[in-house]
Amino acid sequence: MARSAIINVMVQAAMKAGRSLARDFGEVQNLQVSLKGPGDYVSQADHKAEKTIFEELSRARPGYSFLMEEGGVIEGTDNQHRWLVDPLDGTTNFLHGIPIFSISIALERQGQLVAAVIHNPAMDELYVAERGSGAFLNDRRLRVSGRRKMEDSVIGTGVPHLGRGNHHDYLRDLPAIMANSAGIRRLGSAALDLAYVAAGRFDGFWEAGLSPWDVAAGMLIVREAGGFVTDADGGYEIFDKQTIVAGNEEIHRALLKLLGAKRTRV
Ligand code: IPD
Ligand code: CA
Ligand code: CA
Repeated sequence: MARSAIINVMVQAAMKAGRSLARDFGEVQNLQVSLKGPGDYVSQADHKAEKTIFEELSRARPGYSFLMEEGGVIEGTDNQHRWLVDPLDGTTNFLHGIPIFSISIALERQGQLVAAVIHNPAMDELYVAERGSGAFLNDRRLRVSGRRKMEDSVIGTGVPHLGRGNHHDYLRDLPAIMANSAGIRRLGSAALDLAYVAAGRFDGFWEAGLSPWDVAAGMLIVREAGGFVTDADGGYEIFDKQTIVAGNEEIHRALLKLLGAKRTRV
C-alpha cells in the first residue's frame, strides 16, 4: 500500500508517541506493586505522548489547528484543517497493565474527516485510512464483517463507571443488545472498538458520552472499511449528541432499531 504524504506524517507521529508509551507501559507494570501506584506516572506518560504528537504534526504542517484531549483547542493560522488527537485512549487499561490502549489521530479538512491513524503499540497494530482510499491494518486492506444476523454478532460497547456516564440510560439500552447478540465486549478503548469494527472482529459497536478525539479516527476507518457510523438516532451529529453506533450495514441498522425501540419506550 502506497501511503500519502499526510498519512506518513500521521504514522510517524503515532509511532514516535507509541514507542514512548510502550516504554512507559513496561514501567507501569513494575509500579503496580508500589505503594503509591502508577497514577501520576501514567498521567505523565499521557502528556508526554501528546507533546510528541503535537510537535511532530506542527512541524510537518505548521498552522493547522488542534483539538487534543489534554491540551484542548489550539487555534492555528489555518482554520481549514484541524487535528483531533487522543494521545492515550484506554488510560484505565494502561494503568492496570492491560495491553489494550491506543493513540488516535484524525485530520479534518473543512469539517470533513479526511485521514485517520490508530496505533496500538502493545500489539504492534497500525490502522490507517484516507477518505476515498480504503482502510488498512498493518498494510492489509480492511473490510467490515459479513455477518448479517444480530444473533451471530459480537458487539463492542463502553460501560459507564463510577463518576462517568449515564448509568440509567446504559441499563435501559443493555438488555436489548444482550438478549439479541452472540456476545458483548468491553475493550476499554473506543478508538480500538471502532478499529475492531473496521477489521471485522466486532460486528457492531455502541457507546454514549464519548468525545470527538475518542471517535474521529475510528469513524473514518470504519467508513473506509465499508461500514456505517451514526449517532444513536441514525443521524450524523456524533460529536454534538455524544452517541455513536457503528457496524456493517445490517448490524448497524439492527443496533439502531434495538436502541431506538428502547429509547422511545422510556
Ligand atoms: C476512554 C476510552 C473508553 C471509553 C471512555 C473513554 P480515555 O478514553 O475510550 O473505552 O469507554 O468513555 O473516555 O479516557 O482512556 O482516553
Ligand atoms: Ca479517549
Ligand atoms: Ca485519553
